[in-house]
Amino acid sequence: MRDILHELEDRRAEARLGGGQRRIDAQHSKGKLTARERIELLLDEGSFEEFDMFKTHRCTDFGMQEDKPYGDGVVTGWGTINGRMVYVFSQDFTVFGGSLSETHAEKICKIMDMAMQNGAPVIGINDSGGARIQEGVASLAGYADVFQRNIEASGVIPQISVIMGPCAGGAVYSPAMTDFIFMVKDSSYMFVTGPDVVKTVTNEQVTAEELGGALTHTKKSSVADGAFENDVEALHEVRRLVDFLPLSNREKAPVRPFFDDVARVEDSLDTLVPANPNMPYDMKELIHKVADEGDFFEIQADYAGNIITGFIRLEGQTVGIVANQPMVLAGCLDIDSSRKAARFVRFCDCFEIPILTFVDVPGFLPGTSQEYNGVIKHGAKLLFAYGEATVPMVTVITRKAYGGAYDVMASKHLRSDFNYAWPTAEIAVMGAKGAVEILYRSELGEPDKIAARVADYEDRFANPFVAAEKGFIDEVIQPRSTRRRVARAFASLRSKKRSMPAKKHDNIPL
Ligand code: HXC
Repeated sequence: MRDILHELEDRRAEARLGGGQRRIDAQHSKGKLTARERIELLLDEGSFEEFDMFKTHRCTDFGMQEDKPYGDGVVTGWGTINGRMVYVFSQDFTVFGGSLSETHAEKICKIMDMAMQNGAPVIGINDSGGARIQEGVASLAGYADVFQRNIEASGVIPQISVIMGPCAGGAVYSPAMTDFIFMVKDSSYMFVTGPDVVKTVTNEQVTAEELGGALTHTKKSSVADGAFENDVEALHEVRRLVDFLPLSNREKAPVRPFFDDVARVEDSLDTLVPANPNMPYDMKELIHKVADEGDFFEIQADYAGNIITGFIRLEGQTVGIVANQPMVLAGCLDIDSSRKAARFVRFCDCFEIPILTFVDVPGFLPGTSQEYNGVIKHGAKLLFAYGEATVPMVTVITRKAYGGAYDVMASKHLRSDFNYAWPTAEIAVMGAKGAVEILYRSELGEPDKIAARVADYEDRFANPFVAAEKGFIDEVIQPRSTRRRVARAFASLRSKKRSMPAKKHDNIPL
């Protein structure tokens, strides 16, 4: 009996060693943690329960039957993050470069099926040389099995990808279909075709980091939602994000204890909007001052800075934030910001996370580049996302809400529940100067007359009261009391029930 117990421990020790100490040392020398070390950091101490530790591949080509390491290049199982269950897979680069075989895919599929059945998020840690070359099409089939599960799980359980090494070729499409992708600077990359193929086909010379590193995907392509300095920071931030999210669409986001007065008055907000309507101000100040304990988890912070997206809590409950940022492109909507915010709104709606929208938008960004690249269709994504959302929605217009962008930004007409405006709000078809230049074209040569017309237009339309008279604004509120007003609005919406007409699915303009 004793021998059998020892044998189990010996086998476990062998499995834990993955591809061996030499390869573990090589992994460390690149500044990367091993698959198991990453799981240790991601999950609560001692909470990890492993599946399939002793699973091996079934390949017999290329002498593979002589080399059958336990685990087959991926560590899978479940554990907890601050006491809440998550499923995890972590590719082990020390075993065949973390490459995906038929059995490696089976392990991932097993935990994805369990996660769907039991209603818990899946976190995938990617560090892989791609398809297991020795296995050929069996590996491609394995990828497709994972893809199909990613698609079926979308909107049912949160799916988070952490890229901590190579992720290339078709392998990128599993993370691409998850809800959030995080990357580590200088040690991770994602691309469909690598630098060598790019050089051959297009004659462009580019490094892996330039082509598909963390900065490329968080600043240029928007494929990734956040870039971190190292494995430790990335895993810590994933834990922070998971705390904001529900475990599945079958339950609500967790309510955290909070120590911040809901009625907290912020006098400084009364002077946040500058007297000059063309002067920018930092919308993030408003977000931090409204949030419980000023805590804000930003999504896509380095992309399309003219719109801000992320999570806060109000009275301990998760709220998704979408806010125009006057400091970047004057807060205009454009292709990038519309896509960024639309995807975020749809995530919140899938998982019953209420949405708080702060509006200061002078309109859509003009230009041939915007039109040629389809701002009509991309702008429509955000409009569509808000219009189909059935979660509680509260909107606060701080300053400009002009033209079509007024409608798009969670207006009353898109069934937002509470639409507040600060006294500084200007809700109109366009700014006073533009309006006067169209209405009084014949007087353009007479500056005094035009100035008087502009002043008159501002008096009549550059305020929230015309919209309030029509009931499009529910209440004009003092900036300093925004936290209390917004929190009370959401509190009143906790039992909101609303649904869209029955259909197979909609056809959002992609
Ligand atoms: C089998 C692989 C492998 C793979 C790496 N290894 N990739 N084994 N299948 N795809 C093994 C290596 O043989 C090596 O084994 C160990 O992993 C580490 O690899 P190194 O090359 O020494 O590491 P490094 O220098 O860090 O380079 C990492 C790498 C490189 C850039 C990922 O290994 C590489 O280019 N691999 C091939 C990538 C590729 O072409 N994959 C197929 C892509 S197509 P030893 O025994 O020496 O430790 C694809 C299609 C997916 O993925 C389609 C889905 C629909």
